[in-house]
Amino acid sequence: MSQSSHATTVVIGIAGGSGSGKSTFADLVQAGLDDADLAIIRHDAYYKSLDHLTLDERKQINFDHPASLDTQRMIEDIKRLRAGETIAVPQYDFSLYTRKTQVDELAPPSVLIVEGILIFSEPRLRDLFDMKVFIDTDDDDRLIRRLNRDIGERSRTLTEVLSQYQNTVKPMHLEFVEPSKRWADIIIPHGGKNKVGLDLLSRKLHMLLKRDYPEQLHT
Ligand code: CTP
Repeated sequence: MSQSSHATTVVIGIAGGSGSGKSTFADLVQAGLDDADLAIIRHDAYYKSLDHLTLDERKQINFDHPASLDTQRMIEDIKRLRAGETIAVPQYDFSLYTRKTQVDELAPPSVLIVEGILIFSEPRLRDLFDMKVFIDTDDDDRLIRRLNRDIGERSRTLTEVLSQYQNTVKPMHLEFVEPSKRWADIIIPHGGKNKVGLDLLSRKLHMLLKRDYPEQLHT
């Protein structure tokens, strides 16, 4: 792996239930900064490869349980970035329920946002974050978002989305995601477009990076 001259990467964890708006929040924070300043990696990209199973067998997996993710690889990748190394981030195909062969090369940024539903539930991952943010969004809003996304972008049927929600998404949310909120430094209610929350974190990052803050950023 190649080495970079970056001193240290500041790592920010953004957790929250499925459909809470983590990606929207992270993307909006990133929008005000340069690519070299801030990068995002998603725990979703680290779902285990299920090549050895048929598509029907893959659909039976509980994707909301920590065991479905290769968290060890993510931990090692974050440590490598912190050590100044470039990493190969896996890519995931939600329509085929498995890992793609392509990877995304990522050089150490000044700030790394790590996003995912279960990133605060594993202590070895949680301990790597310099700041922990939890996006707290009402369950009905999360389900509506999930329905729109999974049917529109992930090739799922209405019946599939609702039965997955009742069988695994909701019970795992109650067992792992909701209790992990207790580890957060900041809890942001009402989803990923909370302007006050966006302004707060963006100002902090601009300060950290010694950049001028564009006042119109999150108005
Ligand atoms: N998942 C799935 N099928 C897979 C792998 C994961 O349906 N093959 C689902 C899991 O059920 C899990 C969800 O993906 O609940 C995790 O992604 P989510 O947090 O919903 O996506 P983001 O876009 O990161 O979330 P947000 O809406 O908060 O931005």
